[in-house]
Amino acid sequence: MFAADCAQAEIYDPQLKAAYKTCHDYLRSTRAEEFWCLQLMPPALRPACWALFAAYCLADDLADTTEGDGSQRLRAWREALDTDLRLGTSQDPVRQAVVHTMWCWNLKADAFDVTFTALEKDALRTAPGPATWQQWRARSKDINVPFLLQCLTLLRHAGLDTPLHLTRLDAYQQLSDGLFLTDSLTDLADDLSRGDITLPAEELHRFGTCETDLSQRRWTPAVQALISHLLATARTWLDQPELWTGLPPGPAVVLRTGCTLYRARLHAAEKAGPALLQYAARPDLAARLRVIGPGRLLAATTWHLFPLPELRTAPPPVHPALPAPRTAPTGLLEPPQPHAGGARPPALPAKRMPRHVAIIMDGNGRWAGARGLPRNDGHKAGGKALIDVMHGAAEIGLPHLTVYLLSTENLEKRPPQEINKLLAFARQQLQAGDFLRYDVRIRWAGLPDGLPGDFVDLLHTNEEATKGRTGLNVTFCLNYGGRSELTQAADSLADAARTGQLNGTRVSEHLLRSHLPLGDLPDVDLLWRTGGEQRISNFLPWHTAYAELLFTDKLWPDIDRRDLWEAMTEYTHRHRRYGAVPALQPVVSAQEAHNGTSG
Ligand code: IPE
Ligand code: IPE
Ligand code: MG
Repeated sequence: MFAADCAQAEIYDPQLKAAYKTCHDYLRSTRAEEFWCLQLMPPALRPACWALFAAYCLADDLADTTEGDGSQRLRAWREALDTDLRLGTSQDPVRQAVVHTMWCWNLKADAFDVTFTALEKDALRTAPGPATWQQWRARSKDINVPFLLQCLTLLRHAGLDTPLHLTRLDAYQQLSDGLFLTDSLTDLADDLSRGDITLPAEELHRFGTCETDLSQRRWTPAVQALISHLLATARTWLDQPELWTGLPPGPAVVLRTGCTLYRARLHAAEKAGPALLQYAARPDLAARLRVIGPGRLLAATTWHLFPLPELRTAPPPVHPALPAPRTAPTGLLEPPQPHAGGARPPALPAKRMPRHVAIIMDGNGRWAGARGLPRNDGHKAGGKALIDVMHGAAEIGLPHLTVYLLSTENLEKRPPQEINKLLAFARQQLQAGDFLRYDVRIRWAGLPDGLPGDFVDLLHTNEEATKGRTGLNVTFCLNYGGRSELTQAADSLADAARTGQLNGTRVSEHLLRSHLPLGDLPDVDLLWRTGGEQRISNFLPWHTAYAELLFTDKLWPDIDRRDLWEAMTEYTHRHRRYGAVPALQPVVSAQEAHNGTSG
């Protein structure tokens, strides 16, 4: 069965198959019912469903862990997935299958964000449970809907149109609430043993009971009335046949069978009575088979009669060359130099820290002009400011700093004397080997054309010498242009198509990104420009697509690390929404903010 599904999905590579097998086995042993529902999907889509669902379940398990900080573990896993997605592969089997699925089916890189953020919040366990139905519903939406939407996207990308009728969105939401409420009720005992109450407090109180009754597992008449009311509510929410009659036959069978299985769970919960507070309620094997058996038969017949119109499975991605493995720095590296005036970095909430700050360091010329000095003196002073900012970035623990040193337009349009002087300052810094003393990885982005050959060599030597560093990543954009970067990616893709490496696959965002010269660099969180101008000047168009923008007036040579810290602090107050509606509450509570980086 597993092998046949992989063959249908055109997954032949043994390592990749092993990765999908890990997801398959994990779901089968920990989420048997949901696993069997996924098996109702067309065989060619099943491996993708295992991978995606395994990612959600693993995130849920990490968040639920009672040993250590679940929120931190989940965050680390999420960051690793983010990095792997950019690289196009992973050393971890679940992530490898997820990355492969996301690439092949052209799924959005941020598809997991909403659910993972909600789970991270749960893992912090700042409140015992939702106070109101409104809060409960928001959580239900964050946890269930993204996966359901991903399944629809998969079907659509496989050529099957599964239109979501906008007039029925409320009904779909209610169905998803039905699934969520069923989970909450049947897993009540497990949640209670972790100290979690997932039912809305207002509903508990309406029935004359409270959190203590539940956490002490008291089966009082009020608790009994509450549970039987909620079981009936979940049953009504799941019972929406008009939703599947509007769907194409294949998805309709999946949805209908899934709901029937969930109703069997509700039945098991009803039968359990007081035991519901002690054990998770699940239908027994016979009850499960009664639903799954006919469901599978029906699904197989339906997908046979109504196959996916045009199965557009893409071949495995063309992996970009993996960067050299990052090893711990050898030899003794010095800590960042302290600020001349003794300033210390602020404690920013870890969850809100930007990961990548990019700076357009503008204002050198005006700074010099205001002092009656030649422009070059401004660039020299700007160089000093940059060094201080780099130390400050390392001190505060920023992982990525990208700085605009020289644009392709600057090289073309500024007097050669100014450019030569500017390059001479940079050459001095690089030759002195100053960067090598600290845990800093240097990278250069830009075109060699128009730069002196020995200068390009020097940039490469610094890149090579620091490539094993694990501290601050500094990317120097020098003779850099955003449009040129995108053009290079397009050219490299066209070349891959010409030489048959793309094998007819459609271009996905992942694929395009992998052909960018800076494809493995994370997205920019904060784009900061000094010097008072408010424009982007051809800087990092791909990576800043969703960046927060900050424009400040100070001229670059007047900047030091404290301004970077201030900019980062300002960033922690921004509310990033990525196209979604505003969150109900700010993501960071006052208490977390007070706890500083420990949050
Ligand atoms: C930024 O400062 C540095 C470079 C572009 C190399 P400018 O040289 O643009 O300074 P202003 O904008 O003229 O003050
Ligand atoms: C952009 O600055 C490039 C750098 C900061 C290196 P400019 O000062 O050259 O930008 P425009 O031309 O004013 O937009
Ligand atoms: Mg300028």
